[in-house]
Amino acid sequence: MSAVAERTTIQVRPLTPVIGAEISGVDLRQPLDAATVAILKAAIHQWRVLFFRDQPITDAQQLAFGRAFGPLTPAHPIAEGLDDHPEIWQRKAAEYKSRRPDVTVPSAPPPRDNKGWHIDITFVANPNRYTILRGIDIPAYGGDTLFANLVRAYDGLSEPIKRLIDPLKTVHRTSGYDRAGSGKARRDGRATGPFVSLHPLVRIHPETGEKVLFVNPGTTSHIVGLKEPESRGILEMLINEITRPEYQVRFHWSPHALVLWDNQAVAHAGPIDYAHFDLPRVVRRITVAGELPQGPDGFRSQALEGELFNVLG
Ligand code: OGA
Ligand code: MN
Repeated sequence: MSAVAERTTIQVRPLTPVIGAEISGVDLRQPLDAATVAILKAAIHQWRVLFFRDQPITDAQQLAFGRAFGPLTPAHPIAEGLDDHPEIWQRKAAEYKSRRPDVTVPSAPPPRDNKGWHIDITFVANPNRYTILRGIDIPAYGGDTLFANLVRAYDGLSEPIKRLIDPLKTVHRTSGYDRAGSGKARRDGRATGPFVSLHPLVRIHPETGEKVLFVNPGTTSHIVGLKEPESRGILEMLINEITRPEYQVRFHWSPHALVLWDNQAVAHAGPIDYAHFDLPRVVRRITVAGELPQGPDGFRSQALEGELFNVLG
């Protein structure tokens, strides 16, 4: 048996036919060899989100794992990272409490109830390529995360709707949620927004060439060039498609679990149950830098307000 074959004991076990696979036989405390990285890259492009269990790794090991997939960004364009690791965003359960629907009377125009569904950081013109979330303090029950396959959501549309949306562009802006940290100066001196970007509505996946329904239920404000009711109606229809249960997988966390998702092909929703209970939940997130999304006609995303997401390496 060759040295490579001996090391690649890794197993990829799909969890649904359309999204999500659990990875076993890999120890993230060790540097990944090239064969393992190649298997993980193929698996992420096929299954979109990979789940690892029982990986008691350090912050530095999480960073090393992320760098196997490309240079990292800071924790967030607005929120601060950890003092000793500016790439790491620590998130506590209290952040998800405000996601209780129907507690306020909507003002006009009503904020969209996105039920927590979003794509990470699309208010910048160069959203991150991958997100890596590590469980630090995980409740015994509750606090699950949902993931949806945006390639399947596009594929499932009828041909006339695909033809309609293929050339369209949308505006994405910082939502109330992402604005939470604004107002305070950043340690690195960068501006804290507002961030507004112009994106293709349909994105060509940079690695697989597939078409992705690139609508962010959290931050896509409107479709450019349409009348407001047309834009609102089409976005609502597309968001209904994105959040169809048959395109989803639901991850139940366990201590030392880690999740890697392709933010170019996945929408996700953080815990939807924190309005109902109070168990601690802490996760630490890093993001691998991405490129400017490209539409089917070659259009590249543009920043309308605010800087690009910077890259730390
Ligand atoms: C994120 C996120 C969801 C969760 O960190 O980008 O959406 O379940 N987290 O904590
Ligand atoms: Mn997210």
